[in-house]
Amino acid sequence: MKHLLTTQGLSKDDAILLLDTSAQMAATQSRENKKLPTLRGRTVVNLFYEDSTRTRISFETAAKRLSADVINFSAKGSSVSKGESLKDTALTLHAMGADAVVVRHWASGAAHQLAHAGWLDAAVLNAGDGMHQHPTQALLDAFTIRRHLVGRVGEDGRGTDTSVGADLAGLRIAIVGDVLHSRVARSNVYLLHTLGAEVTLVAPPTLVPVGVETWPCRVSYHLDETLEQWQPDAVMMLRVQRERMSGGSGAFFPSPMEYSRKFGFDARRLAVLPDHAIVMHPGPMNRGLEISAAAADHPRSVIVEQVANGVAVRMAALYLLLSGDTGSEKTSTDERN
Ligand code: CP
Repeated sequence: MKHLLTTQGLSKDDAILLLDTSAQMAATQSRENKKLPTLRGRTVVNLFYEDSTRTRISFETAAKRLSADVINFSAKGSSVSKGESLKDTALTLHAMGADAVVVRHWASGAAHQLAHAGWLDAAVLNAGDGMHQHPTQALLDAFTIRRHLVGRVGEDGRGTDTSVGADLAGLRIAIVGDVLHSRVARSNVYLLHTLGAEVTLVAPPTLVPVGVETWPCRVSYHLDETLEQWQPDAVMMLRVQRERMSGGSGAFFPSPMEYSRKFGFDARRLAVLPDHAIVMHPGPMNRGLEISAAAADHPRSVIVEQVANGVAVRMAALYLLLSGDTGSEKTSTDERN
């Protein structure tokens, strides 16, 4: 495994290896001394062309917990604003001896280009590229689902993780909302399918991407019907990405009020789910639009735990890519099409 660019094509063995390694990393994070010496002397660059809170901070935390040196690069305030290209930025990072580059970019395919254009020797980890992929988000979502619905880790998500080695066969996951603009949805559909879960996307027709019929999932336009009749084990709400709509003006169809009424998740809809079902959201949330405060803060919401699990999952990804301790030599997380 040289790069982590996409969940599409990620083998089941490599997905389980990433989740199991994440479980080992999570166990170290409940200790008083959370730091491991594993990546001492290695340099991880966080290269962010788009805003981020969770992903950037958790990659930084993960790299530091593994004792790597971390360089944070934000396009805002850099020579990118003077017109510097991705290539010249990459050559600069190469000259500085980056061992891994964590990249978030507004352009779909930017992470793939960085990995394969020959500008860098470093491992590339995709932290979100346009509307394409966000593989570590999907991995932390799968990790959270596995700990809650397959293993038994206690109410607070801590304790022995009995899910190690397991897949997600038999679980039903509903992914709800702005699928059109969501790299989180696309990454989750492929990873959850690989792990054996059934996925239903629920969205208004205007927020479903062209070509969705080729994705390994069902599509529904009716949230209440899906919740009542399909009884999902987890409901993953998606952020309405108004900045990617109508040239960034924020206008979108359906209207916010209609959207919230038909596709918003609230305590009434939560009550329809099985008792064990969990509520997820990758963040940041539009409270009152795609999810109510009551649902977001409900005891069955695992949204804060998703953030905590992001550190363990990103530690695992950095460790596996930089230590070379991978289950397979082939680059199955490395999209080569
Ligand atoms: N989930 C997610 O990618 O959040 P950030 O944009 O804050 O990184």
